[in-house]
Amino acid sequence: MNLLIMGLPGAGKGTQAETIVRDYGVLHVSTGDMFRAAMANGTEMGKLAKSFIDKGELVPDEVTNGIVKDRLGEDDIRAHGVLLDGYPRTIEQAQALDAMLVDLGMKLDAVINIDVDPSVLVGRISGRFICKKCGATYNKPNKMPKVADTCDVCGSHEFFQRDDDKPETVANRIEINTKQSAPILAHYREAGLVHDVDGMHSIEETTREIKGILDAI
Ligand code: AP5
Ligand code: MG
Repeated sequence: MNLLIMGLPGAGKGTQAETIVRDYGVLHVSTGDMFRAAMANGTEMGKLAKSFIDKGELVPDEVTNGIVKDRLGEDDIRAHGVLLDGYPRTIEQAQALDAMLVDLGMKLDAVINIDVDPSVLVGRISGRFICKKCGATYNKPNKMPKVADTCDVCGSHEFFQRDDDKPETVANRIEINTKQSAPILAHYREAGLVHDVDGMHSIEETTREIKGILDAI
């Protein structure tokens, strides 16, 4: 199964991706996570990405398309399928992805679009904290670890908040993504692939809705 998960910053893409990859065995490919890993490793690509991410702007298409193309060409993706999170983010990326999938003999099975009222996004993002070791995402107060200061998934006690989660950067991310996502969604609606999910419900209810869709594919 090859899937996209879409939604504005803070809609819950990463949160829902954690459950989808666990329950359906597909591999999570998040361009945001790939850029953050490159930034943490101090690579040239990481330094370039940082100069855009810190301002809440999109990393140029040629860079982003390049890392996705390399990742999609790896054998484990062919074996397990993929859940793309945060890509495509421009209509040019969507067209590049179409071409990559044709080249690789793959096809998309569904686009999950998490629909949220933008008014909740800043609050969700400011409450977000992430496990340093395994990347599991939490939220104060919506999703606290079961045992205080201990990751539910890997047991680590170290968490961090993202550098691009400052209020002014978040506002820019939301504005840019709102503009860019409309033509991408139109592109996939035309192909009959989009499933809209109500992201205003709890994390668990949203997961149930997504699983209902995936189980019917
Ligand atoms: P990226 O990492 O993709 O960030 P984003 O799209 O801004 O989205 P987030 O990760 O902030 O939100 P999310 O939807 O994953 O929400 P989450 O599940 O964490 O990209 C970062 C940057 O990298 C971009 O700004 C850009 O610069 C660059 N980049 C990435 N991809 C690119 C591309 N393709 N092209 C160019 N540049 C690119 O949830 C948020 C919080 O809410 C959590 O605390 C969670 O616990 C909580 N929560 C989730 N669901 C619910 C719910 N239903 N109810 C209550 N709380 C909830
Ligand atoms: Mg995310």
